[in-house]
Amino acid sequence: MTQKHVLVTGGIGGIGTAIVKYFARDGYKTAATYAPFEREKVKPWLEMIEKEVLEVHLFEVDVADFESCHALSHKVAAEFGAVDVLVNCAGIIRDSVFKKMPFENWDQVMKVNLYSIFNVTRHFFEAMLIRKWGRVINITSVNGQKGQFGQANYSATKAGAHGLTMALAQEGAKHGVTVNSVAPGYTATEMMLQVPEAVLDDIKKHIPMGRLAKPEEIAAAVLFLASEDAAFITGVNLDVNGGQWMHH
Ligand code: CAA
Repeated sequence: MTQKHVLVTGGIGGIGTAIVKYFARDGYKTAATYAPFEREKVKPWLEMIEKEVLEVHLFEVDVADFESCHALSHKVAAEFGAVDVLVNCAGIIRDSVFKKMPFENWDQVMKVNLYSIFNVTRHFFEAMLIRKWGRVINITSVNGQKGQFGQANYSATKAGAHGLTMALAQEGAKHGVTVNSVAPGYTATEMMLQVPEAVLDDIKKHIPMGRLAKPEEIAAAVLFLASEDAAFITGVNLDVNGGQWMHH
């Protein structure tokens, strides 16, 4: 079997790092992107990856910027090769109650979490259709499914991301390209440090499993959706949330 290539945006973040490691360990040729504001994290991150005897190609890109993503696609083609599996994992939070939310918080979260999926995927999707094989996996959130107090911006982007997933799934279906979302619940990453401790304690009470997700538990779901075994799964939003939100 030929080696598959994966590109993970937000690849040096909390969930992204776990995803990157899972793919690299599974034998994928693996690339990750990081944002300009994360530059100082790159060196220690690469040292950590080398210690684990893994190889990851890193690319800097501002996923909020279409032209930056266009330039990325050329760099990836020249230095890395085709992208068989694209994981859109880049995401931020800028929580605020809606009545006080500055436009900036709305705008940044829209661009980094939702526009990014267009900005990046637009440059790789057509090639997947032509090659008759591809996987796009968007990281959504339980809060895009149920809404969350203080997250009008974030919840909108995550619900929007899954809308995009379902539409793109239909465009890929006849061409061997599946498009799915993975919806994590609250996950033990640095992002959680932005949530007030009392709020987080309260949230845990509403998670039947009584704990946060481990980043690896999200990564395992992503790796599965990328596999050949998942070829008939498309357009789903796969919940990995310890039972916090059940629907249908
Ligand atoms: N439901 C109902 N009321 C709530 C509430 C909730 N979930 N959370 C807070 N409130 C109420 C408070 O009780 C308080 O009421 P009073 O004024 O009557 O006392 C009022 O709202 C204001 O609360 P704060 O004092 O906390 O107000 P603030 O402006 O300082 O902060 C906030 C508001 C930014 C929303 C803050 O509460 C917060 O950060 N909450 C966390 C939001 C959250 O869950 N974010 C998830 C981040 S992780 C993530 O997004 C990853 C993922 O995918 C899961």
